[in-house]
Amino acid sequence: MELTVHSSLKNRKNGELLLLPFFKHKKEVVKGGDFEDALVNWHLPVKLKDFTAAEGEVLFLYPEAGKEPRIALLGLGEAASMTIETLRRSYANAAKAINQKKARDINLVVPHPSKLSESDLLRGISEGLLLANYVFDALKHDQLKELATARIQKIAFIGASRASASVLKKSYILSQGVAAARDLVNGNADHVTPQYLGAFAKGIATDFSTVTCAVLGKREIEKAKLGLLLAVNQGSSRDPALIELKYRGQPKSKEHILLIGKGITYDTGGLNIKPTGSMETMKCDMAGAAAVLATIQVAAALELPLNVTALVPATENGIDGNSFKPGDVYQSYSGKTVEIGNTDAEGRLVLADAIAYGLKNHAPSMIIDVATLTGAVDIALGPEAAGLFSNDESLAKKLIAASEDSFERVWRLPLFQEYRDALKSDVADIKNIGGRSAGSITAAIFLQEFIGKKEKSIPWAHLDIAATAYLLEARRYHPKGATGFGVRLLISFLASLS
Ligand code: BES
Ligand code: ZN
Ligand code: ZN
Repeated sequence: MELTVHSSLKNRKNGELLLLPFFKHKKEVVKGGDFEDALVNWHLPVKLKDFTAAEGEVLFLYPEAGKEPRIALLGLGEAASMTIETLRRSYANAAKAINQKKARDINLVVPHPSKLSESDLLRGISEGLLLANYVFDALKHDQLKELATARIQKIAFIGASRASASVLKKSYILSQGVAAARDLVNGNADHVTPQYLGAFAKGIATDFSTVTCAVLGKREIEKAKLGLLLAVNQGSSRDPALIELKYRGQPKSKEHILLIGKGITYDTGGLNIKPTGSMETMKCDMAGAAAVLATIQVAAALELPLNVTALVPATENGIDGNSFKPGDVYQSYSGKTVEIGNTDAEGRLVLADAIAYGLKNHAPSMIIDVATLTGAVDIALGPEAAGLFSNDESLAKKLIAASEDSFERVWRLPLFQEYRDALKSDVADIKNIGGRSAGSITAAIFLQEFIGKKEKSIPWAHLDIAATAYLLEARRYHPKGATGFGVRLLISFLASLS
């Protein structure tokens, strides 16, 4: 996608479509940008009876005179209540409508609400357009790829200042990261394997001199004794991988943030096999891994002045004669022993090993893990917010601020230590499941056990993205399937630190 900036409508090149913004004011439709001559030259009707300029409303016109074959009127709602997010939603609608008309090259007249800064304005517009312009068609037969060629390819932002080109560039980089994460999640589980995730990470290290990558294979994981990752891997015919992707944007500083992403490339549930209806979307169980790897890609491309490492424990939770067993006890990297109450609670197992491994081998100043961890978080919060858990007030606050900024919303849930009792085991140090109640919290408390005891523990946050990572229906700027949730949130968080 090519995004360019132009000072006025007069010297624009012809496009396939002209997109004009309108506000709603006291039930009237008012012009939202500078295009007086367009209205006159193309004999646009002055009274637009059907068009109310409601947020996201799109009306196509086909003028007889003039340069553009079609004009799309876009409603932006009340200028006074406009936010970055309302812009994202409105322009996402515009992108979807334009794609249906198969227009590729568009001229977009930038609206001028007085309330938002130009950079916020262009951020909202470009994020909405770019996020909604994504299509996953890699698994369709060539002849069915109607959308691939019909997607918007060029947008000229008319009436934007030269300085705003950098905002557009940032949005573009961010949307590329989100698209990369979505592609990984949407891809076939038989294609996006632990080894594929490793190769993807290595590709990022090849692209940026500030990024390095190491992928530990089964032998090395055995040698290092990541016993829980190995236990989960037992039922899979594919080897596990432990992926370390390091970005150093502030090499002089020792401070660094460790992002850990759940990388279960397919979750059958193991011997506690998932029933029909619960397994079909389980290629999404590496969405945490996709988010943290893509975050490194974006952080490197934006040259954020800080150090971030992504650590991904990757394996299938498969099922066969070697599967790990409910009732058996396995030893974690930390030394703690874990009784398996349910093989479907595998995410916390691989994350526990990764957390302990990360603490010991990376000495991070802070850990954030991202995981499609529990179905219970969907019951608690649904697809509008990820569950946030943290042992640190300041870190939680910053993540909440980033979630408001990116509109990848999070909602904080408690780590009540009273619920630790639910994880008691008669035979091991801890059990990997509690009861039915507070399922997302007991999962988080299980992870917290591997962060270290209170006095010694470092700031840690856990994001349960089980309900936000993968959608069964398209919503706003997200198509059906993977959302790429976490990338925009984490980048906004990292940018707020630097
Ligand atoms: N991968 C699932 C969680 C999940 C559910 C992700 C729905 C995305 C959508 C996780 O490994 C799992 O199976 N969790 C169990 C835990 C239970 C056995 C304690 C769950 O939530 O049912
Ligand atoms: Zn599971
Ligand atoms: Zn899982």
